[in-house]
Amino acid sequence: MPEAQFLPKKYSNQFPEGSVTWKSPSNIALVKYWGKFEHQLPCNASVSFTLSNCHTTTKLSYNIKSTEGFEFEVYLDGERETGFEPKIIQFFERIEAYMPFLKNYAFRIETSNSFPHSSGIASSASGMSALALCLMSVEKELLGEQISETEFKQKASFLARLGSGSACRSVEGPLIVWGEHPQIEGSNDLFGTKYPYDIHPNFSNYQDTILLVDKGEKQVSSTAGHGLMRDHPYAEDRFGTANLNLKKLVNIFKSGDLKSFIELVESEALQLHGMMMTSVPYYILMKPNTLEIINRIWQFRKENGSHLCFTLDAGANVHVLYPENESSIVVPFIKSELAKFCKNGSFIEDRVGLGASQV
Ligand code: DP6
Repeated sequence: MPEAQFLPKKYSNQFPEGSVTWKSPSNIALVKYWGKFEHQLPCNASVSFTLSNCHTTTKLSYNIKSTEGFEFEVYLDGERETGFEPKIIQFFERIEAYMPFLKNYAFRIETSNSFPHSSGIASSASGMSALALCLMSVEKELLGEQISETEFKQKASFLARLGSGSACRSVEGPLIVWGEHPQIEGSNDLFGTKYPYDIHPNFSNYQDTILLVDKGEKQVSSTAGHGLMRDHPYAEDRFGTANLNLKKLVNIFKSGDLKSFIELVESEALQLHGMMMTSVPYYILMKPNTLEIINRIWQFRKENGSHLCFTLDAGANVHVLYPENESSIVVPFIKSELAKFCKNGSFIEDRVGLGASQV
């Protein structure tokens, strides 16, 4: 079992208490992860830009205990939040074999997001990766100096994946691959790895402005959506196309061909939503304003020869992606023509980032 590499060595230290804090970013997939099997393994390889401004900061405090079972409390922005507990219990159950100290401590998890909770931005990627990194720091203390930087990050990503698949792509940046792919060396299903080949300067400091179209609870969660891929009539085609798109991206990243980049990224976004619309049962997460924005982006691109494009995650919000050197024309366009389709005119200006950091 390849997972066995993540079983810890014998702990040489013991600490009665302590605390650690990590800040971890969100990420936006260019080739989407949609469909999983067994223990959070992806049905196709995906690749994402790690973001910079959208992040979660988590402080994990721990106190030794002698009682049995998991013990923890979660606080969001200083307030007790019991709504997160079921997801964290499930996470602890999934990772317990790899983190055998979990039942020895009572944990206090204090978390806050840089983006508003109601923004509709998924906090599971940044949240699960921040928590996984905190747990890794505790384990590192227990192990003494027996773990390298690479092992630390790989295991953090491996654990984060067991919390939420896309979270494994938030530990590092700027471009992270998750899922075994024949053309990408080192890629694997267990954890995210840095994209290993040349990336043209066109993609450095790429901008992502997130248009907050709908802040409501999603009708269908991502986890349920992944589940619907199991009996989906187009599943196998979709997984094949995603892997082919990732292969094409290798050349695009190298050549800096923005036109091909745009076509591929927008097609991926619409395929993701196409899968939702053709699931049994079917559903739609885009809103009328999502489509308004997409049409305006296409119009603007046609008229200005700009290279902005859109992508979507599993919701109604639109990520507007563009090269840094087009900011001076794209930002005014977003403010004057797109912001009016957002809830309360709100959007978040973000860009590609380098991954998580300890605070
Ligand atoms: C559409 O990682 O949120 O954002 O593994 O069930 O927690 P779980 O799902 P999640 O799915 C994210 C799907 C996506 C595409 C992507 O990020 O690749």
